Amino acid sequence: MENETLTITDNRTQKAYTVPIFRGTIRAMDLRQIKTDPEDFGLMTYDPAFMNTASCQSAITYLDGEKGILRYRGYPIEQLAEHCTFLEVAYLLLNGDLPTKDELDTWNYDVMRHSMIHENLKKFMDGFHHDAHPMGILLSTVAALSTFYPDGRAVNDAKYRRKQVVRLIGKMPTLAAYAYRHRLGRPYIYPDPELCYTKNYMNMLWKRTEPNYVANPVLARALEVLFILHADHEQNCSTSAMRVVGSSNADPYATTAAAISALWGPLHGGANEEVLRMLDEIGSKDRIPAFIEEVKEGHRKLMGFGHRVYKNYDPRARIIKQVAEEVFEVTGRNPKIDIALELEKIALNDEYFVKRRLYPNVDFYSGIIYQAMGFNPDQFTVLFGIPRTVGWLAQWQEMMSDTDKKIARPRQIYIGEEKRDFVPLTLREHKHELVGV
Ligand code: CMC
Repeated sequence: MENETLTITDNRTQKAYTVPIFRGTIRAMDLRQIKTDPEDFGLMTYDPAFMNTASCQSAITYLDGEKGILRYRGYPIEQLAEHCTFLEVAYLLLNGDLPTKDELDTWNYDVMRHSMIHENLKKFMDGFHHDAHPMGILLSTVAALSTFYPDGRAVNDAKYRRKQVVRLIGKMPTLAAYAYRHRLGRPYIYPDPELCYTKNYMNMLWKRTEPNYVANPVLARALEVLFILHADHEQNCSTSAMRVVGSSNADPYATTAAAISALWGPLHGGANEEVLRMLDEIGSKDRIPAFIEEVKEGHRKLMGFGHRVYKNYDPRARIIKQVAEEVFEVTGRNPKIDIALELEKIALNDEYFVKRRLYPNVDFYSGIIYQAMGFNPDQFTVLFGIPRTVGWLAQWQEMMSDTDKKIARPRQIYIGEEKRDFVPLTLREHKHELVGV
């Protein structure tokens, strides 16, 4: 398009610069030519937390936060959640198109064949304390996979990349289930590749002495839908961690462990656990107004509300609300849903939340369903991490074959001391309060 340029006048020098506009962005490097004199480093952009910076071009997930739209590879999330299995969506995210029947059969077989883990990993897992947080176990065991699969370091070879992708997607439910059973002191259950992805996971979680554990089909489908909804969400915190760490050509196990670490934080995937703790603390509907006041006074956050990109209802939260009702038909109603619904009603009509465009996000309702299904709150973020591994790997694959790929290395604005000379220990002045830890 003609006139797809931006002209900037530097008022320091009165010089004008014209830079191209590409898909609604300008290249930050185009600003480097803007200098006050030849010695000047050139202009940079300052964007802490990447509020307005596109870090890559991606063809995987489309998100319109103003309109509340989410699509994977062009397909609306609502349609995928209604019609697909999780592994079908995983194939779509990784390969760009929905699989044919043959492609899907091969893909299901490959993933399930890789669900087994090395026996030594079980021993590794046994070293964790009995009440170790499952996210801590998950991220450590995923990182440990790199010691079992040294071919994972061949990150510039697409064939080897694909192999690690299948291994990781296959093994995540096994690691997650073992982390769960470790806590309960129950024996680990081997994966059953004859089962589908979610039923196999449920089998590894909940099988006891019965010869054949049969997962409830409604709950298995609910888990499948939740996995689909969590599979990717473009350049969020953990995906950015995946891309940043992967950009150094670290192997995908170490890289995925970094993404899991980012996901664990309570402002990101860890929010689902925090929502449950918050609902527990509120306890009953009559205590909601006092809680909302505390939020508005800035003493705390309404967990599961707000999003960097969505300034409208999160379409995933809408689907999750429906799934909750289906799950409750089987499990009985989790009374926390009524507190959550009331909280949402009050918040959506309150000036504080309306003005800031804060809506429920994916984490607001998911934990209530997980709890009804029998999971403890500290498992919730694991349930986010299993499906998100697919998105991380799709984004990693995309980055590794991107001709624009370079090691991620932001700049900074240095605000520290000017050069100063070393002072010997005996001559230094006491400047900081002595605080023991
Ligand atoms: N409760 C109360 N106030 C909030 C909340 C909240 N949950 N979220 C944002 N605000 C306020 C915030 O205090 C600020 O107010 P002011 O303008 O007066 O300073 C304003 O809204 C803008 O918020 P922000 O922190 O600048 O927004 P952000 O884009 O940097 O943060 C967020 C996004 C998700 C971290 C934040 O909304 C939050 O902390 N939410 C609670 C945690 C949560 O639910 N996280 C899950 C996110 S969705 C799934 C995922 O990514 O894992």
